[in-house]
Amino acid sequence: MNVKDKTSEFLFQNYGRNDVCFTHGKGAYMFDEKGNRYLDLVAGIAVNSIGYAHPKWVNAVTEQAGRIAHVSNLYHIKEQADLAEKIASVTPKGMTRSLFVNSGAEANEGALKLAVRHTKRTKVLSTFNSFHGRTAASLGATGQTKYQESFEPLIGNCFDYFDFGDAESFKSKITKDTAAVIIEPIQAEGGVRTASKEFFRTIRDVCTDNGTLMIVDEVQTGMGRTGEWFGMQNYNVIPDIMTLAKALGGGVPIGAVVTTSEISSAFTPGSHGTTFGGNPLVCAAACAVIDIIKDEKLVQNAKTLGKKWMSDLKKIKSNDITEVRGLGLIIGIEMKEHAKDVQNDALKNGVLVNVCHLNTVRLIPPLIINEAEADRFTQLLSAFLSKYN
Ligand SMILES: Cc1ncc(COP(=O)(O)O)c(C=O)c1O
Repeated sequence: MNVKDKTSEFLFQNYGRNDVCFTHGKGAYMFDEKGNRYLDLVAGIAVNSIGYAHPKWVNAVTEQAGRIAHVSNLYHIKEQADLAEKIASVTPKGMTRSLFVNSGAEANEGALKLAVRHTKRTKVLSTFNSFHGRTAASLGATGQTKYQESFEPLIGNCFDYFDFGDAESFKSKITKDTAAVIIEPIQAEGGVRTASKEFFRTIRDVCTDNGTLMIVDEVQTGMGRTGEWFGMQNYNVIPDIMTLAKALGGGVPIGAVVTTSEISSAFTPGSHGTTFGGNPLVCAAACAVIDIIKDEKLVQNAKTLGKKWMSDLKKIKSNDITEVRGLGLIIGIEMKEHAKDVQNDALKNGVLVNVCHLNTVRLIPPLIINEAEADRFTQLLSAFLSKYN
């Protein structure tokens, strides 16, 4: 039985999959079963920021697996402590405490529990069109009914929503009972939607005045993707709690809740935890990721290449493109009609891109890509769209 038949017979049918199966990757390229090579501008949805099979990462993971992969949090774990120290070396001032979990949704779940416990308040604000994950509380925070439909019984009634980018809408919703606001620096799954510096600064200031915690979901924007270590640094805003996952592990499942010493103290032994959270294997992988991002200056590459790429994409003359937006190496090209066709044409030409939110072609490549690789897609897109002018 081939992979397609096995998938349809034995797996849940909860994903819409492209008809290709990758066997391995190297750098910014992936290879399928037939040996075809693809330039990857998806990076496993913003996970594979250091590319595939980076020798330092492979060495860290194999060496760790050969010694010890899992230790319970009943004991001290050196790799976990090392990782927390490394994260503290790149986070905004004061954000020195980490709690490790296994995914982005779980990180948000932990952040929300922490905020409710710390503030002793009962309500949470989030934005319409956001995405924070699929577990119960993170699904509640996800301000899109399409993800919540039929799961309402599992979602608490603590959530309310305001318009992303609209500070007045936020001010009209916040009350003395608002424990936290949770927000993405860029609404990534929501179509790479950006908002102004003033908007984020207002959220920060109003939260401070109101005693509400600002949780920033950096699951997709963190670890250098936007041209800063964390997306919120583009706006000079320091949140109270930050959540990480995706690129943190370079391909192994890890998430983190990062906050100040003071806020972290709301969790005491037994208040929160998870069996696999921060085990030696995933922490050794994440330590290697941070070292590689630093050594290879990938944050800077995201900034300079992202800027140039976005400017080139904006120069494409097409009636179908309505907007090009983003920050660093998260770029959305909103199209009137042909987003899916662009994805299919790119695939045919050995380039992987992905459409999010119906009509936005999203570029979230490994942060190691170079100008020639970015140009390759720009030229492909330009040639494809010229048919429709
Ligand atoms: C901003 C954001 N938050 C949370 C999540 C959920 O992360 P995970 O799929 O690891 O649970 C995602 C996933 O796409 C995301 O983009």
